[in-house]
Amino acid sequence: RLTLGRAGPLAGKHVVVSAGGTQEPLDPVRYLTNRSSGKQGFALAQAALDLGARVSLVVGATAAALPTPIGAERTDVETAAQMAEAVLRLCQEADVLIMAAAVADFRPRQVRAHKIKKERETPPPLELEPTTDILLAVAEARRRLGRPAVVVGFAAESEQLLANAQDKLERKNLSMIVANDISAPDAGFAVDTNRVLLLLPGGVVEPLPLMTKGEVAAAVLARVVRLLVEGAG
Ligand code: CTP
Ligand code: CA
Repeated sequence: RLTLGRAGPLAGKHVVVSAGGTQEPLDPVRYLTNRSSGKQGFALAQAALDLGARVSLVVGATAAALPTPIGAERTDVETAAQMAEAVLRLCQEADVLIMAAAVADFRPRQVRAHKIKKERETPPPLELEPTTDILLAVAEARRRLGRPAVVVGFAAESEQLLANAQDKLERKNLSMIVANDISAPDAGFAVDTNRVLLLLPGGVVEPLPLMTKGEVAAAVLARVVRLLVEGAG
């Protein structure tokens, strides 16, 4: 096993990180997706490896081209359903889950077996249905299994950052949420920097300055180490 010989505060711990955006097929050539680059999630996987963890990285299709951090066990997925399956399976033996992926909230209700043709059809209505909320499913499994001990979510918001993130922290029963103002030009999708707030239960809010995604990842993992030591759920 890869944990052999590792040192650091996360030695012997299994950390699952999800990264990137999912793609939800409409027909064999088209899909719905989002702007997630996966960079923050990959930086989190690297930061966990640097602290000695065994790392499983679940990668959504928008981040498929990013190189795997050396030592991470990688699972590539396309859809929200595939990501749910992989994350729930890995969480059964994980100590930490960090859900940085941008999971599609909706998917086409029907996946057409054949390409939709423009000549033969009037524009087809785009009927959507909700996907599984992976963090809610993890919260339910966690009540039964008692693991992962620490679950970290992300909140990408374009308005009401604090209130919306606080609501997600509580609703998804998270140990911590990383709140991300995607309306700022130097934070969020595609860029290499990020400006986030860390929210913890009990109304604790820790704003971090503008940082590289690597620095944000190190700050998040430092908090994760503390939560593991303090036994926070
Ligand atoms: N998430 C998830 N499963 C989903 C959608 C989101 O596990 N189907 C996770 C994300 O990975 C993130 C957190 O939930 O860690 C918050 O995601 P976000 O999109 O900000 O919030 P939602 O709960 O999806 O609500 P909304 O998009 O309406 O703000
Ligand atoms: Ca969402």
